[in-house]
Formats: sequence, C-alpha cells, structure tokens
Amino acid sequence: MSDAVSVIKARLPGAAPKLGLILGSGLGGLVDEIENPTRFAYTDLPGFPHSTVSSHAAELVIGTLSGLDVAVLAGRVHAYETGLADAMATPLATLKGLGVESLILTNAAGSLHEDMGPGSLMLISDHINFSGRNPLIGVDGDGRFANMVDAYDPAWRAIAKQVAEAEAVELHEGVYGWFLGPSFETPAEIRMARTLGMDAVGMSTVPETILARYHGMRVLGISSITNLGAGMTGDALSHHETKDVGATIVPKLTRLIRALLADMAGR
Ligand code: HPA
Repeated sequence: MSDAVSVIKARLPGAAPKLGLILGSGLGGLVDEIENPTRFAYTDLPGFPHSTVSSHAAELVIGTLSGLDVAVLAGRVHAYETGLADAMATPLATLKGLGVESLILTNAAGSLHEDMGPGSLMLISDHINFSGRNPLIGVDGDGRFANMVDAYDPAWRAIAKQVAEAEAVELHEGVYGWFLGPSFETPAEIRMARTLGMDAVGMSTVPETILARYHGMRVLGISSITNLGAGMTGDALSHHETKDVGATIVPKLTRLIRALLADMAGR
C-alpha cells in the first residue's frame, strides 16, 4: 500500500470509492456538495504535490455524491507550476490504490468556436498533447506505452450526452488541446490550434488522462468554457476571468455531474 493510501485507510478503513473526480479552476464548488465528507489536505498526504494556483484548493475529499462513493481531488497541480508533467502522478496512483475505476476530469478552457462561448460545457472527445511533455516519461515497463485510442470512454460519453439532454444541459463535444502555459496563447497560436483540429485549449487534464489510462481507469472529460481563445475578441485574457466565469458554470456542471452519478448508481 502506498504511503498516501495508508494515511487515508488509517482514518477511513472502509473507504472504497469507485469514482474519482478532479475539479478544475474555479470549479471547486462541487466539493461542497459531497455528503459525509472526510477531508485530507494534500500537505498531509505523502508524495502529494503542492498547488500554487490561487483558484485551487488542495485537498482530497472522500464521501458520497448522488449515492456513489467518490474521491474528489479538489485542486490539481499543473505541469506549468514545476515544468514536470507528472505532477499528478501520486494523486492518480492514490486513486487507483483506493480502488477508483472511473475518473471524471473537469477543467476551465478557452473555446475556439464563437458558437461555444463563455459558460458553455464541452465534452472532451479526444485530445491533442501540444506541450511536448508526457507524465509517463521515466516510468519503467511496457505499461508506459499507454494506448490512447478511445482515451475518453466512448460508451460513457454516449451516456453523458443522453444525461445532458434529459437534464436540458447543452453539451458541446470536441477536441481539447493541451498548451503548457502558464502564459495564455497568442492569437496566432489560437489560429494554429483551430487549423490543427482543436476545439478548446487549456493547461491541464491531458497528463491526468494519460496517467489514468496508464492505470486502466476509464475517463470522462468536461471542459467549462470560460472565454474565447486569444484574439477572438478584442479583450485580453486573465486568470480572473477563468475563475469568475468558472464559478458561474458550477451550478450547471454540478447538475450534469450529479445526474451522471445518479445514472451510474442506478446501473
Ligand atoms: N487558454 C488556456 N487555458 C485556459 C484558457 C485559455 O484561453 N481559458 C481557461 N484556461
């Protein structure tokens, strides 16, 4: 058992979450919905990274949501904080060690489509790793050659679309492009991203998807669109916008995720 799993099991011997969630910038509000929460600060979990981003809490919360046992990582550490793509390797290994089989990843992202504006939700169909980094660099064994076909589980995506429709939540779908950051993209980079087939861009999620696939978890990714990409409007981009618009999307995202979990609980 890894050190972090031992610490968690010492306080919660019966913890057996099958579902994990990672909450992105400004999206941490969902954590308040968890029933019977037990909170672990990342600083108390051996090997966990320390987040330096203002909109990110840094705790693992275990409890129930819509009738399912869940482990929620409220606060991710981004590759741009250290330059290391494997910043989330220990949290992901810990979820795996707790028995998590399915993982929902959320993030804040910039849209490359005018008709998918701020406040929209985008289901991630696939990703483009535009960072040149990979969290499996340095990992030994053949598992590092992780298959990335259908990385975002097609069957789960189909369910997500049905659930969104039933909840009357508009859910776009598209390709998420990972830029390392932390500076935002230039307008030229956004034009390039569109040409290369990206529908939204952001600074997270992809390394976690790769780690989750390495561990054999199925993945669902949802982007909360906080802005149009650089140069698509006359406005400058800022992290304030990411946080503020992110927060306004939380009720809609919460409704969708709750309904998704209720659907899972019923299966
Ligand atoms: N670019 C990259 N990351 C982001 C953006 C963006 O426009 N918006 C929110 N996160």
